[in-house]
Amino acid sequence: MTDGKILILGIESSCDDTAAAVVADGREILSSAASSQTELHEKYGGVVPEIASRRHAETIDAVVKDALDKAGKDISQLDAIAVTAAPGLIGSLLVGVSYAKGMAYVSGKPLVPVHHIRSHIASNYPAHPDLEPPFLCLVASGGHSHIVLVKGYTDFEVIGRTRDDAAGECFDKTARVLGYPYPGGIYIDRAASRGNPHAFEFPKCRIEGAPLDFSFSGLKTAVINTVHRLKQAGSPIPAEDIAACVQHTIADTLTSHLETAAEMCGCVKIAIAGGVAANSGLRQYAGKMCEKHGYRLFLPPVSLCGDNGAMVASQGFYEFEAGVRAGLDLNARATMEISDAF
Ligand code: KG4
Ligand code: ZN
Repeated sequence: MTDGKILILGIESSCDDTAAAVVADGREILSSAASSQTELHEKYGGVVPEIASRRHAETIDAVVKDALDKAGKDISQLDAIAVTAAPGLIGSLLVGVSYAKGMAYVSGKPLVPVHHIRSHIASNYPAHPDLEPPFLCLVASGGHSHIVLVKGYTDFEVIGRTRDDAAGECFDKTARVLGYPYPGGIYIDRAASRGNPHAFEFPKCRIEGAPLDFSFSGLKTAVINTVHRLKQAGSPIPAEDIAACVQHTIADTLTSHLETAAEMCGCVKIAIAGGVAANSGLRQYAGKMCEKHGYRLFLPPVSLCGDNGAMVASQGFYEFEAGVRAGLDLNARATMEISDAF
């Protein structure tokens, strides 16, 4: 403990970013360090799990030391070591979990397992000191599209989820057929700003009897078919218009589901999280919807939307305060519900 504040080291390795950070009292980021693998996977058009876990093993020690150095702390000054233990790529998760277990063993510090989606939600806490549960959070990333009722810092209920693809997957697939590099969300975002969002009519899926659930596979197929048809006809591909239409369709669908969810549960505080929370269209649409109803909208800074160590340390603080601890028998899990306990 320093100045009476609880210091948590957060370690993240669930996909292709190795990251670590030191956060005080769940809200104050003292340091942040990361090693991205984007260029390693770019030529394969997606994350190759075996390559990802090997690279995590090579970089994790330097990333954690960098986070501690930047914070000017050593292990003895930490109150706990938090690590993403589920869900994610199993080989990737195992590197972080094994490293954190090693640190906990040598230092005698408590080990706190963190759920990846819980940590994405917590990426809002450092930027918004006054954000407290209960609130509603849309979590949209490469692997997840969930509407979560955050009843408490460690109490979650999923009230809407995707039935097939995640929103991020749909952005990435569109980028791929248009010839942009992986991960393509950011390229679609940039191209969309120069396109006409009404040039094409793509399907917006509503699921009968489940107004809060999503389905993005129909949109993905429609985009692929549109591009193929244009190619077959020898027509030029209006990449910027297609990008703008896909972004419009995804942002509009996510926002309208969020609007329905807020009405259904009477929530007036709305947050967004996950890699797709960086999307300018989604940020704009959600902003307008919240303004219309007088809701308060909380957005993480773009730098904390993707996977990072600070969100793990932030959520780790609240798990630590709630008494959550893991032993040295902690195992990583590829899948796990956000509402389940480790
Ligand atoms: O949360 P994240 O870093 O990793 C997962 O947990 O999946 O999310 C990555 C996803 C990718 O699909 C990426 O293309 C998407 O977030 N993404 C974006 C933007 N920035 C990242 N999608 C749309 N617009 C963006 N600006
Ligand atoms: Zn993530």
